[in-house]
Amino acid sequence: MENTKRTVTCGELTKADVGKKVVLNGWVSRTRDLGGLVFIRLRDRYGITQVMVGDNASDDVKKIASSLKSEYCIAVEGTVAARADKDVNKDMATGEIEVEATDIEIFTTSQELPFSIEEVRQKDGTVVVPNEDLRLKYRYLDLRRDPMQHNIILRSQVAFATREYLTSKGFLEIETPTFIKSTPEGARDYLVPSRVHPGKFYSLPQSPQLYKQLLMVSGFDKYFQIARCYRDEDARGDRQPEFTQIDMELSFTNREEVLSTTEGMMAHIFKKTLNYDLPVKFDRIAWEDAFDWYGSDKPDLRFDLKMQDATFMADLADFNAFKAGAANAGRDIQRHKRSGLKALVVKNVADKYSRKQVEALEAVAKTYKAKGLAWMKVNQDGVFEGGISKFYTGKEAEICSKLGAEKNDLLLFVSDENWQLACTALGAVRKQLGKDLNLYNPNDEFHFAWIIDFPYFAWNEEENHWETEHHMFTLPQKQYWDTLESDPGAVKGDLYDLVLNGYELASGSMRINDPALQQRIFKIVGYSNERAEKAFGFLVQAFKFGAPPHGGIAPGLDRLVMLMCHEESIHEVIAFPKNNLAMSPMDECPSYIDDAQLEELHIRCVEKE
Ligand code: AMO
Repeated sequence: MENTKRTVTCGELTKADVGKKVVLNGWVSRTRDLGGLVFIRLRDRYGITQVMVGDNASDDVKKIASSLKSEYCIAVEGTVAARADKDVNKDMATGEIEVEATDIEIFTTSQELPFSIEEVRQKDGTVVVPNEDLRLKYRYLDLRRDPMQHNIILRSQVAFATREYLTSKGFLEIETPTFIKSTPEGARDYLVPSRVHPGKFYSLPQSPQLYKQLLMVSGFDKYFQIARCYRDEDARGDRQPEFTQIDMELSFTNREEVLSTTEGMMAHIFKKTLNYDLPVKFDRIAWEDAFDWYGSDKPDLRFDLKMQDATFMADLADFNAFKAGAANAGRDIQRHKRSGLKALVVKNVADKYSRKQVEALEAVAKTYKAKGLAWMKVNQDGVFEGGISKFYTGKEAEICSKLGAEKNDLLLFVSDENWQLACTALGAVRKQLGKDLNLYNPNDEFHFAWIIDFPYFAWNEEENHWETEHHMFTLPQKQYWDTLESDPGAVKGDLYDLVLNGYELASGSMRINDPALQQRIFKIVGYSNERAEKAFGFLVQAFKFGAPPHGGIAPGLDRLVMLMCHEESIHEVIAFPKNNLAMSPMDECPSYIDDAQLEELHIRCVEKE
């Protein structure tokens, strides 16, 4: 073939192109050899075009066509022809045409594949997905698969829309270093040994947090970066050791501006990439309400099913388990005012739920440390039945009216002295019910909300001290400034999380810009002056030179794209992720390094006994 360079892609030819001479480049997705007539599905990133090798082709070209196997990389020269009406494929963008080949050149052949690039379905229609480690070992092939092409392309579009929006709002994209000083930030740091400074280490940033605050001191009042972050924590579906944040910070701002900028950015991203309209404003839920109603600070709001306070039931019967939950409101260290006797009314399912199914729900509650899941049903006569009903016979009218329960409803309860534990356990049951009862459409709903008014401090039971719920640079809400030391448990932070469909998508806060207030926070969490100086001295120093009021946020790009792609793991939206053991089966990273390299880095490995 004289000119093998493509003149068109595999995704663009239509009936309007009939008669055109074209050159296509791509991979052989599949061939069908009908003897004298060969059909090739030719694929590139843009789509699939059907190539027909028949009368227009010489015997040599027909021979090449018959030798083609899956994933050979080839060039095809030919003429665009209309398909007969009966052969039109409405599901394909190029389904009205085919290219009648006049020549074919094989760029490269392909070995037998470890798994099929084309979608494989079981008899019942479910798609067969190859084993994850095999996919990661041959990631370059896995990425050829249609769903992966879709996800990676969407990710690029999301990154572009992000830049487009933030730049249009006056944000500057500024890079910050990825070799930084190791500072305590929540997770463990990844460390890089210094060759030049024996015994010293750089650390990879867990986020650009301190640098973006320094940029505010420098006067770059609107900053963003699509930033790589590194955290040595146990991997799971929505966590990777290296991940990406859309990191933002603003000066001379307030919470309202940060939230509305983020809302505007999300609306732009969803409109531009999915043509999906988000509401102008997202709901705001106080942290305590989020736990009280949904049992989580990252509730899935695609379905309502709110938990209710059932404290009144403790006085209606001599049922000790309920008395314990109801008794403790307001007594825990964080001063939560709510009681740990929580109820869920599940509408119109009593006849569908067997004892066994309720036990399965109880198992869910128990994984979250609930002592049990109490239950009863309202039968067709409006009478309580099963489970704990014997304690409440005759009390149907009061209980049903207070909880809004009706005939055929299933009532579920968790009672615990610890309000947060009770909420979390019943919240997990709520989540399971959402799935089991198909209370939402997993493929077409995006429900954002802000969680605000978080507790500022959390008590570390193991180490017996207060720590900050977010990071130490978060501003406590002003009304608590006088009582930070005397009542830390009651302090609320000026911090916010953005949640989407049951995931924490972003975290952020207004920051402290007053060095004296910062010192007080260090002290409460047990940082001596020396320790704070050693860890964050440069930031404390910078804040002595007129630090502006500032605040920011960081949505996780991986989680955002994962949810937009309706995936359940961020592995599906990262080109080369690590597996759940933080390894890459493809390049076998992490790997041992040779002695000479270790020597140069002044490192000796010691085997653990
Ligand atoms: P935070 O630690 O909450 O806040 O992180 C912000 C967002 O980053 C994403 N994320 C992750 N994604 C994948 N894998 C991980 N291991 C991982 N860890 C976090 C989540 C999360 O909501 N500097 C602050 C932000 C700020 O205050 O401006 C920070 O990093 O989507």
